Amino acid sequence: MNLIIFLACIAGIGLVDAQLISFSQFSNAVTKNGGPTPSQEQYNNFNNFARIRGRISTVQEAAMALAQILHESDRLRAKREYACAQTQCPNSYRDSRCDKPGQYYYGRGYIQLTWCYNYGPASQAIFRDDRLLRNPDQVATNDQIAWQTTFWFWSDRVHDKPGVQQGKFGATTRWINGNECRDPNNQTAKNRFKMYGIVRQAFGLQGSGDPSGCKL
Ligand SMILES: *[C@@H]1O[C@H](CO)[C@@H](O)[C@H](O)[C@H]1NC(C)=O
Repeated sequence: MNLIIFLACIAGIGLVDAQLISFSQFSNAVTKNGGPTPSQEQYNNFNNFARIRGRISTVQEAAMALAQILHESDRLRAKREYACAQTQCPNSYRDSRCDKPGQYYYGRGYIQLTWCYNYGPASQAIFRDDRLLRNPDQVATNDQIAWQTTFWFWSDRVHDKPGVQQGKFGATTRWINGNECRDPNNQTAKNRFKMYGIVRQAFGLQGSGDPSGCKL
C-alpha cells in the first residue's frame, strides 16, 4: 500500500471513529420529535461528550440517551427548568450541607441537573474543582457544560445500571425518573419510549426498541 492511501485510510478511520452519529441523523431525531433544527454546536457537543463523558460507544445507547435528553429538555429548547427561569426558585432544592450563598440549584442542562449534592460531584468529575457549585448558572449558559453535565449524569447514574447495556429503554427511564415506572400506564414513560422509537429511526436502527426495564 502506498503512503498516500495509507494516510487516507488513517484519516478515514479517524473520521468514522470521531462521528458516532451524523449531523443529519441528529437533526432528524430532534426535528421529527417536534424540536427546532439543532445548531452545529449542539451536534458537536452531543457527539463528543456522549463518548468522552457518557462512555457511550454504540448507536443504540446514543439513541436511548438522546431520547431521554429530548424529553427532559423540551426537545433541546430548555437548558433551565421552565418553572425556575424567572424566579430562580429560591425556596426549592435547598440543602444546607452544600448550598453556596446566593446560588440556587434548580434544573439546568439537557438532563436538568438539580441539588447542590449533584452539582458538586458533577463539577469535581468534569473540572476537578467546585466551579459549578460556586456558579451553577454556567450549566445553562455554556453549551459545552450543559452537555458535559448531562453525560456525566448518564455515565454516573444510568450507563452501568442493569439492562441499559442490553438496550432496555425502560431501565434508562427508571434511573432518570423512577416515579413514572410505578404506574405501568404512566403516559409520561410511554411518551419517552415513543420519542426513542423516532430517534431510532433517525439513527438508522431497526425496529422500535425494547421498552422493558421500567417496572419497579
Ligand atoms: C407519572 O409520571 C409523572 C412524571 O414523572 C409523575 O409525576 C407521576 O407521579 C406518575 N404517576 C403515577 C400514577 O405513577
